[in-house]
Amino acid sequence: RIMSLLPILLHPDPRLKKQCVPVPSVDADTRRLAESMIETMYDAPGVGLAAPQVASDARIFVMDCTDSETDNNPLVLINPEITWVSEELNTYSEGCLSLPDLFEDVERPKQVRMSFLDIDGKHHEELFDDLWATCAQHELDHLNGVLFIDHLSRMKRSMMTKKMVKFKKELAL
Ligand code: NI
Repeated sequence: RIMSLLPILLHPDPRLKKQCVPVPSVDADTRRLAESMIETMYDAPGVGLAAPQVASDARIFVMDCTDSETDNNPLVLINPEITWVSEELNTYSEGCLSLPDLFEDVERPKQVRMSFLDIDGKHHEELFDDLWATCAQHELDHLNGVLFIDHLSRMKRSMMTKKMVKFKKELAL
């Protein structure tokens, strides 16, 4: 199996702020991108990865919140849409592969229902709960140019952005 790891964009980057476009049809290119995204997510490692983080503007994200390292259960969501959210909320300390090592509490609905296409172009509607729901909402946000720091106060957001600018400068040295 050929590994095809994709470079992950780091905040701040204008490509992370773009509205992604629906995938017109699930074809070989879509599958290749999804496969590479899954490999890139596991390698990072992370529990979710959205297309804009690997410089694609397709409405695709992958996630795997299984807590076992041996029992993988990757999900590919193409053209995902929220069809229902619970009134009950949940707070998780969220992180993002585009903002490595930075974590903050974000409050979101505890459960969401999402409709999406899978890698075979088949339509699904699934209920996600707890960590899966948080992850699904975080990744769907990415497809709309929204980062988890956009849910925080302006002060926290600018603090974290400054840290990232510094981190990216150090990487470039
Ligand atoms: Ni993220």
